[in-house]
Amino acid sequence: MAGRIPDQFLDELLARVDIVDVVGERVQLKRGGANYHALCPFHSEKTPSFTVSPTKQFYHCFGCGAHGTAIRFLMEYDRMDFREAVAALAQMAGLEVPEQARETRVEGQDELYRVLARANELYQRWLRQHPDRERAVGYLRRRGLTGEMAKRFGLGFAPPGWDNLLREIGDRDTLARAGLLVTREGGGGYDRFRDRIMFPIRDRRGRVIGFGGRVLGDGEPKYLNSPETPVFHKGSELYGLYEVLESDRNPSDVVVVEGYMDVVALAQFGLTRAVATLGTSTGTRQVERLFRVTGDLVFCFDGDEAGRQAAWRALESSLPALRDGRQIRFLFLPEGEDPDSLVRERGRDGFEALLGQAEPLSDWLFDHLAEAVDMTSMDGRARLVDRAVPLLRRLPPDVYRRMMIGRLAGLAQLDAEYVEAVIDGDHSVSTPQRAPENRRSSDAARAVRRTPVRLAIALLLHRPALGAAADYSGELAGLEELPGVELLAQLLEITRNEPHVTAGALLERFRDSAHETSLWRLATWDHMVPEEGLEREFADAIARIRALRNEKRLQYLNERLQRGELTSDEWAEWVALKQR
Ligand code: UTP
Ligand code: MN
Repeated sequence: MAGRIPDQFLDELLARVDIVDVVGERVQLKRGGANYHALCPFHSEKTPSFTVSPTKQFYHCFGCGAHGTAIRFLMEYDRMDFREAVAALAQMAGLEVPEQARETRVEGQDELYRVLARANELYQRWLRQHPDRERAVGYLRRRGLTGEMAKRFGLGFAPPGWDNLLREIGDRDTLARAGLLVTREGGGGYDRFRDRIMFPIRDRRGRVIGFGGRVLGDGEPKYLNSPETPVFHKGSELYGLYEVLESDRNPSDVVVVEGYMDVVALAQFGLTRAVATLGTSTGTRQVERLFRVTGDLVFCFDGDEAGRQAAWRALESSLPALRDGRQIRFLFLPEGEDPDSLVRERGRDGFEALLGQAEPLSDWLFDHLAEAVDMTSMDGRARLVDRAVPLLRRLPPDVYRRMMIGRLAGLAQLDAEYVEAVIDGDHSVSTPQRAPENRRSSDAARAVRRTPVRLAIALLLHRPALGAAADYSGELAGLEELPGVELLAQLLEITRNEPHVTAGALLERFRDSAHETSLWRLATWDHMVPEEGLEREFADAIARIRALRNEKRLQYLNERLQRGELTSDEWAEWVALKQR
């Protein structure tokens, strides 16, 4: 795997390219005041609420909450992945693409692809002409699979025997690295896949990267999958995605099922937009990947307990990928059925009708959480909030998140602003406040509570050079458990060393970190401090943090004093603090 792209490189890159150029090449921008405005490319609207800030080097839509740096814009708009976006910008800026942003290359990678492609050809050939082929073809026929589908998905046959592939290909070492040979200790090895129907798994360029193999009839394990290899990563690949995109570059939705056979059967009945995970639960990377292809996902799961558990895991890993304009729905299948059996019974229309009834993620989330609690009691509602908070916390800052918070607040009969504060870690749930009547909770949810730490962070994002005026590292000692202090300390350190860093570059530093959400909220918060007042307000915020620290220290020293534990140094400190 390629390593992390160095922060310095990203800083330099974001300093060299202008987000106004990047966005302006793709969206028509109009200048207005300090910013540029446009109709948001990420949701449909009639009046522009999409803004690009040349000084901060980020974009933000007040309508749908979309936001990001030039890197994120390319990822969203041109559907690139992170490395591709970095490479594209580097090229624009005339910078050499860093090693880590080049396509992940492993030594001998080409050989792996070659051996996998060769194995794939052999499996397909054996399905057509091996002496044992009748059993395999008979099995597929009994399951109702057409030759056309076998061809579309490149199905093959690994004949019985320990060394069919090994004898044909010979290169033990590469076969083993490609996951096709099981090696024995002390040398030697044998074919991993024997007497199985073979499902080749392709990457988005159509290269075979691994296989799933099914026994003919009964036998254990039913499916055998290639192990992780340098080119096969189960956590980010999806079975059938290449084939989906072959028939439609921009599917309006994608259906995620559990089995290889389900994907093939659905395609046979004309539903050519289904993919499957690779025998693992659905992960965040797979969801992100799918959202680059479509805005609408439908997860199909068994209706039984195991299926519901798997669905819940999928829900949890989907949350970080959920933003406005993206939706996930869940379809629970009737007991004992899978998409393969259903589409054969009810045909494509019947299956589409089921898909139409899939339940939105938000409904299912709250239903599921409310199931085990008594919503008529205050304790029960507090428990609901308790259970929902860690989940909603994983949502990116966005209209969608605000709507979920609003909904939770409604269910719990609490004020949305208060629930949001709990989610952001400012309050504990144990002191619930009742929702005041007639309060516009969506407006309240937008507001950021003004604390000195928050204000200092927002002002630093507004003008990073503020952090270089002095060494503030001592100011925060002893306040670590206060929300935001750790983040502020990190920002102060970065801006002290790099006063010219842009807000966009700062935000990029915290991509995928626990702070990302709160940083974006503060970066787009209207703190109402005018340009000329920035320095004074910042100094004032720091002074208030300092006062807070002194107060805490004094409290601690007072306690020690009362227990008669003060050392002489602490005594001197106590006197000094008292005299302030
Ligand atoms: P299922 O057991 O639901 O099988 O496994 P299926 O897809 O309906 O298969 P058929 O219809 O009996 O042929 C769903 C998926 O779980 C993984 C495979 O990816 C399979 O497609 N799996 C299942 C394994 O990896 N190993 C197993 O032993 C079983
Ligand atoms: Mn099945």
